[in-house]
Amino acid sequence: MADKDDEVFEIQRSNRRVGDPAAAHDPMRKPPEAAAPRKPRPALSSAEDFEIVDGQLGRITAEVPVIARPSMEPPAKAVAAAVAPAAPPPLSPGEGPRVGNYQLAGRIRSSPQSMVFLAHRVSDFGIARPVVLKIAPRNNANYDKTRERLVDEYRAMAMLDHPNICAVVEAADIEIGFYVALEYVDGPDTRRLLDKLAKAQRKLPIEVAVNIVVELLRGLEHAHTASGADDQPLGIVHRNVNPSNVLLSRYGQVKLSDFGVVKMRGRAAADTEPGLIKGNFAYLPPEYIRGEHLDHRIDLYAAGVLLFELVTGGRCFRAEGTDLFKDVLAGLDVSRLADANVPDQLTTIIARAANKDASQRYRTATEMGFALEDWLSTNRYYVSPSSIAAVLRTL
Ligand SMILES: Nc1ncnc2c1ncn2[C@@H]1O[C@H](COP(=O)(O)OP(=O)(O)O)[C@@H](O)[C@H]1O
Ligand SMILES: [Mg+2]
Repeated sequence: MADKDDEVFEIQRSNRRVGDPAAAHDPMRKPPEAAAPRKPRPALSSAEDFEIVDGQLGRITAEVPVIARPSMEPPAKAVAAAVAPAAPPPLSPGEGPRVGNYQLAGRIRSSPQSMVFLAHRVSDFGIARPVVLKIAPRNNANYDKTRERLVDEYRAMAMLDHPNICAVVEAADIEIGFYVALEYVDGPDTRRLLDKLAKAQRKLPIEVAVNIVVELLRGLEHAHTASGADDQPLGIVHRNVNPSNVLLSRYGQVKLSDFGVVKMRGRAAADTEPGLIKGNFAYLPPEYIRGEHLDHRIDLYAAGVLLFELVTGGRCFRAEGTDLFKDVLAGLDVSRLADANVPDQLTTIIARAANKDASQRYRTATEMGFALEDWLSTNRYYVSPSSIAAVLRTL
């Protein structure tokens, strides 16, 4: 079944913009060139979809249909998918509409509150560096709140400087709203990776799974211990570590992103924990459900759940609604790790990282990272970014 997170990459051009609407609905029509294998990339929209009207990104907030993925769907759906227009490639630098210092190249994700675009920095020198723009459009009813959150996200990211954390380029208020520009990580996020592997009935090599989390933990350690210009700790806790926020580049780098619900000293937006609902309950620990005090161990718990999913290839907590709460409160089902042939020592590390009792977990990201690195070296695994890149190339 298509996962909700998949929508990130399934958003395609709006019905209104399809060049030949009749052909698009003709079931006899041959599938467009889509069949040709393409590198995994976000499905992107045409320039018309985000035309700027009267200084507003009006059309972007319009509903965008999600087109079903071909294969493994019931026949009727498969036909619909086969005739769906191919995702157009991103626009070249110089083609797209301009937003601040950037030209939009295509949409990665959009919700009424905020939109994520691939864009290029406008340059006089013929070099157009790709970035990701997260935009809060001013014409949205919740603009002030959304802007505040995006400002907090920018503030936190601007204080961090680490290869395992997505770098922020700049942020600005412009006529159409507020944007944050981030370095573009050219590759799938980990949710996308897991979904692709599941569809191909493949699993990640175990050392690659462990290495992704080792890298993530380096980024988390930096975030958790970062201090401000006054040398005082910033008290950063990400609070939304989940597969869709752990980005992988085609060179095998691992970068934590989406600091949208970050906890940090001096945060502007109201720091109500319900903000985390935007995150994903399947990666939030029991103390969150019980409404107790949360600290950086919430991120270590999420890293443990992520590792569970990377080594088993399946969801750690699959239930929904109140059943999900029950399962999270009951704790990890360790037997599923044995079923997936995860070695005992690694199972022990995962069970500790994602322990339902925060006091039983690793105390710091470094401690957990050392445990994993120790496991890798004891078992004589050598892993590097190229190991991750090699897996991505096969998808
Ligand atoms: N810097 C980036 N480089 C590449 N893709 C990105 C980048 N930032 C975000 N994305 C993609 O866009 C998705 C949504 O962005 P994110 O910052 O997580 O916003 P939100 O979850 O609040 O919509 C991510 O899951 C990822 O797939
Ligand atoms: Mg996200």
